[in-house]
Amino acid sequence: PQQTLVDSYHRHINYLRISITDRCNLRCCYCAPGWPIEKMPHESILRYEEILRVVRVGVSLGIVKARVTGGEPFVRKGCCDFLEELTRIPGLSDISVTTNGVMLKRHLPRLREIGIRRLNISLDTLQPEKYKQITGVHAFSRVWDSIETALEMGFSPVKINAVALNGVNDNELTELARLTYAYPVHVRFIEQMPFGEASFSDHTPLLAPEIHNRLQRVAPLEPVNRQKNDGPARRYRFAGALGEIGLITAVSRHFCRECNRLRLTADGRLRACLLSNQTTDIKTALRNKVSDKTLAGIFLEAVASKPEQHNLQTRQATGLNRMNTIGG
Ligand code: GTP
Ligand code: 5AD
Ligand code: SF4
Repeated sequence: PQQTLVDSYHRHINYLRISITDRCNLRCCYCAPGWPIEKMPHESILRYEEILRVVRVGVSLGIVKARVTGGEPFVRKGCCDFLEELTRIPGLSDISVTTNGVMLKRHLPRLREIGIRRLNISLDTLQPEKYKQITGVHAFSRVWDSIETALEMGFSPVKINAVALNGVNDNELTELARLTYAYPVHVRFIEQMPFGEASFSDHTPLLAPEIHNRLQRVAPLEPVNRQKNDGPARRYRFAGALGEIGLITAVSRHFCRECNRLRLTADGRLRACLLSNQTTDIKTALRNKVSDKTLAGIFLEAVASKPEQHNLQTRQATGLNRMNTIGG
C-alpha cells in the first residue's frame, strides 16, 4: 500500500490504536479519576464489522501496525473473534493488545493460535494489597498468573506497563525493574499524564530522570538501540538481564516528533493525538454507507489535524477526556 498518511509536520502515520470498548473491570486511580462515569450507550459503540472496515481503509492508506485497547478489550464479547478477523487483513503486519491482564489467561491459547505474539499488560505494583488500592479490585494474582502463563507459552515481547506514582509505588520501582533479571519481560515505567479534572491533586509527579536515577542504584542502565516502528519507550537493560527496561516520558520530554499514530475511539472517532480532545467523526459516514473513498478522505482529514506536539505541564488540570475512552 502506498503511504499517504503524512501529516502537516511530515510525520508518517502507520500505526492505528483501536479502542473497542470504554468498559473496564478495573478502576485505576490514574485512568479515570472520578469514576463512576457515564458509559457510552451501546448504539454509539462501533460494531466489529464497522471497525474492520475502518481498519481496511486505513491499511489501504499505509497503516501496517495495529493495537487493540479499551477500556479493557477482553470485557467486550467476541474480542478474540474480532482479533482473528484483524489478523486476516492483508497488509497488517503487527497486531498487538494492551490489557490489564485480569481476564487474559483463559484467552491465551486462542491468541497464540491466531498468531498474536505481542502483549502489553498493565501492572503497577507487586503487592496484592496495593494492587487493590490502585485498581479497586483484588486481582493481583490473576494478573501475575496471566503474565507467567504468557511467558511460558512463548508470547514475546511481553511488556509490563507501570505508571510511576509518588507515594504509591515509588518505593517499588527497583523491585519492578529487577523482574527483568528473572523474566524476559519489558518493564516500562510511564510518567503519569493528567486525564480528567482532578489529576495530580494528591502527589508530586514522578518523572523519568528521577526514575532513571533510582534504577541506576540497581545496576547501570545500558541503552538498547531503538528499532523501526518502536513505540515511545526509551529502552535500556541491566547487564546480564533477560528482559528490558523502558522509560515512557510522556510528560517530561515529549516524543511527538516521532509520533506515528492515530487512534480510533470505541464510539467511532479518529483521534489524532492522545493529548488533545480534538477528534474527527467517522461513524456517521460509516453508518450512512459512504464509499471507501469518502472514508479515506476522513482519515486524511484526521491526519491533517494532528497537532505538532502536546503542551502538557505537570500538575495542571487539563480537562482531557478520560483515558478509558481512548485506550492509551
Ligand atoms: P508498542 O511500542 O507497540 O508496544 O506500543 P506502546 O508502548 O505505545 O503501547 P502501550 O499501549 O503499552 O502504551 C504505553 C504507554 O504509552 C501508555 O501509558 C500510553 O498512554 C503511552 N502512550 C502511547 N502512545 C502515546 C502517545 O502518542 N503520546 C503520549 N504522550 N503517550 C503515549
Ligand atoms: N498516565 C499514564 N499512563 C496511563 N495509563 C492509563 N492512564 C494513564 C495516565 N493517566 C496507561 C495504563 C495502560 C496504558 C494503556 O495506559 O497503565 O498500561
Ligand atoms: Fe481500566 Fe486500563 Fe484504565 Fe486501568 S488503565 S482503569 S485497566 S482502562
